[in-house]
Amino acid sequence: MKKDFIAISDFSSSELQEMLTLAIDLKKEWKTNGNKPILKNKAMAMIFQKPSLRTRVSFDMAMRHLGGDALYLSPSEIGLGKRESIADVARVISGYVDIIMARVFEHQHVIDLAKWAEIPVINGLSDYNHPCQAMADALTILEEFGTLKNLNVVFVGDGNNVAVSLMHICAKLGANFTHTGPEGYFISNAAYEIGNTISQNTGSQIKYIADPKEAVKKANVIYTDTWTSMGQEEETKLREAVFPPYQVNQALVNLADKYAIVMHCLPAHRGQEITDEVADGSHSRLFPQAHNRLHAQKAVIVNLLK
Ligand code: CP
Ligand code: NVA
Repeated sequence: MKKDFIAISDFSSSELQEMLTLAIDLKKEWKTNGNKPILKNKAMAMIFQKPSLRTRVSFDMAMRHLGGDALYLSPSEIGLGKRESIADVARVISGYVDIIMARVFEHQHVIDLAKWAEIPVINGLSDYNHPCQAMADALTILEEFGTLKNLNVVFVGDGNNVAVSLMHICAKLGANFTHTGPEGYFISNAAYEIGNTISQNTGSQIKYIADPKEAVKKANVIYTDTWTSMGQEEETKLREAVFPPYQVNQALVNLADKYAIVMHCLPAHRGQEITDEVADGSHSRLFPQAHNRLHAQKAVIVNLLK
């Protein structure tokens, strides 16, 4: 049966660990002699309903490094569900390429694509989650600390798509996860319940703490993201009014563990959710984290196509 990569919670802890080990191996191989062309004659269709820098470039280069091809399909080209039904798009593309990566507005759209496609589908971000980001995040944390077990990961800000996948991968790999953010912007109950179920098996803890200063005490990782995600632009003003107490600035970072790292999926809104001082400071791992998208996604693709 074909496999898809739609959510972190669809994979076991050991499957995720195996993919991360493969990511480390592929990264090392690429840095020494370049990757072997193990995806020769394989092609990926990349469907985008929203803009992207990291996802677009890292998936394209991941395919090229492994000897394959990638095709970029811009938001205006396909008109997913508008010009043509998702079911028809999925079945047509299945005859041309070997794997699909899709960035969509509604999570249901990537689920529908996977349902109708005869080839693997990778979720490149939806309104619910961002599992490829979480793989790169876990890889970055692993490289820094050697393990996720018993680390304290604190997500500061909006309980959004990035927070959901980060919470689930922390729970799967044994890290404690805390969300701190304003009332009304919590991680959804459905996502929390999935996280709690996972953490009961792995022994990690999932918490919400309203006070950001309290939340980051003992943090090994402080993570933040935009206050306004793509698709929520009309709420920008409202959000800019409530999120400032949750800015990741030097004063907040100083309250965390002395060796804490700061992460952000990017794009960053400097001066809002993160200050320049922190983004460019010694705790920041923003750019190695962005670069790890390339390596983590190679492992995801190889895992699906093997
Ligand atoms: N972090 C991330 O997914 O970035 P892009 O929106 O640029 O792809
Ligand atoms: N939460 C952000 C992540 C961008 C990579 C968004 O959905 O816009």
